[in-house]
Amino acid sequence: MHSIRIQFISFITALLLVLLLLLNIYPLTSSRDAVFEEKRSSMTAQASTLASSLSGLERLNPENITEVLRYLDLSGYTRVLVADRSGGSLYDSAGQTGGQIPADLLTCLTGKTVFRSSFREAAFLSSIAIPLSAQGELTGALYLAERDEERAEMLLGFQNRIRAASLAIGALALVLALVYVFLLVNRIRAIVRSMRVVAGGDYSYRHVNRGRDEISELGEEFNQLTERLETTEEQRRRFVSDASHELKTPLASIRLLADSIVQNENVDAETMREFVTDIGNEAKRLQRTTDKLLTLSRLDDNAERELVSVDVKQVVLDTLTPLRPLAQEKQVRLETALEDGCQIRATEDDLFHIVFNLVENAVKYNVPGGAVQIALTGDEKQVTLAVSDTGIGIPEEDRANIFSRFYRVDKARSREAGGSGLGLSIVHDTVRALGGSIEVGQNTPQGSVFTVSFPRPSSKEET
Ligand SMILES: Nc1ncnc2c1ncn2[C@@H]1O[C@H](COP(=O)(O)OP(=O)(O)O)[C@@H](O)[C@H]1O
Ligand SMILES: [Mg+2]
Repeated sequence: MHSIRIQFISFITALLLVLLLLLNIYPLTSSRDAVFEEKRSSMTAQASTLASSLSGLERLNPENITEVLRYLDLSGYTRVLVADRSGGSLYDSAGQTGGQIPADLLTCLTGKTVFRSSFREAAFLSSIAIPLSAQGELTGALYLAERDEERAEMLLGFQNRIRAASLAIGALALVLALVYVFLLVNRIRAIVRSMRVVAGGDYSYRHVNRGRDEISELGEEFNQLTERLETTEEQRRRFVSDASHELKTPLASIRLLADSIVQNENVDAETMREFVTDIGNEAKRLQRTTDKLLTLSRLDDNAERELVSVDVKQVVLDTLTPLRPLAQEKQVRLETALEDGCQIRATEDDLFHIVFNLVENAVKYNVPGGAVQIALTGDEKQVTLAVSDTGIGIPEEDRANIFSRFYRVDKARSREAGGSGLGLSIVHDTVRALGGSIEVGQNTPQGSVFTVSFPRPSSKEET
């Protein structure tokens, strides 16, 4: 549960440790090395000066060395030692009996200068051994040793200051990181809380986003998801309520008709027949509605349908046959202009539903003496079917809704004509399932035009 915090803090701590360690080590070693370098050059210069004073002496002995050194300032050295060619002590500031002869001095008798410097016990300890010569001949060696506490103190002070600064920086960075991760985790938690609210069923809840970073983006995405969920839920609710309402009306009529038959003892055969016929009609309407609902639910399921190459002209002609009696009754002319060779990938059933519903509407919502025109055209990309009528037309503001389930412009007129308000939703969903598109427009001078376009299969698919 707290893992992001722990991960983040561990990462920051490790990073800080490495950085501060480097900060503590690198400047100190490099300034120590700089001191070593400086000691080397200053001591080499001093030793050379002393050596050149001593090289004036033809033969080295304790007396003349003391004589020469007396005039020189040797106060800065902890030890000054002069040895002869074989390494025997001739002069030693540590006393005539002196300590041991340093190994460096013996090494130096082979002819090369030996310098050594180290940082120990809060002091820089440096020493140099330099060969002495007279007229090109090695006569002995000079050894100087020095102890510098002042520089060491500076270095240690520097080290302490860096350590203190590192601790302060580390603590500050850690506090800032803690605050940052706290805020970050809180924002993530807020999204999780919002998700729980929505998961609990409150689809109108929206997460409040601050800032414009990835976390806000996450919140934004979540809100959009919630919105879609809300819309779907709303559609589902409306659909259920519309469907129940749609089934309730014919059921109520059936009950009413049945009740009046039961309650009236002396109903004559004629009236009885009339009532029972009405009951039958209501039952037929119920059946039509449930059939359509089943068709729609199958379309919703996106069930895989075996698509074949269908000749649209043939299906249109077959579909018109059962519609002719209705057209005759409504005194509406059916006109066709159908191109040959318009094949699409579909099922005959799908296409039948589409054509039947469009032409049925065009006839139902027409005026006596009106006409319905069915035009089929095709180019290499698509096949277009246009059903236009000279009927009552659809008001502009209703056009966006007529493909919705149970939507009817004029409820009374639709019901009277036996409509359920589901026909156009079936048409719409079927066309979409076949990869096509449908549009509705206005016919001139009056009426409506429904235009359906299907993609034309490429010649390879057409087999
Ligand atoms: N050709 C048309 N002319 C005028 N109105 C139409 C036409 N086609 C559909 N409509 C309107 O759209 C509504 C929905 O159509 P549809 O889904 O087929 O339902 P219905 O079962 O009422 O025919 C109809 O009730 C009607 O008001
Ligand atoms: Mg209809």
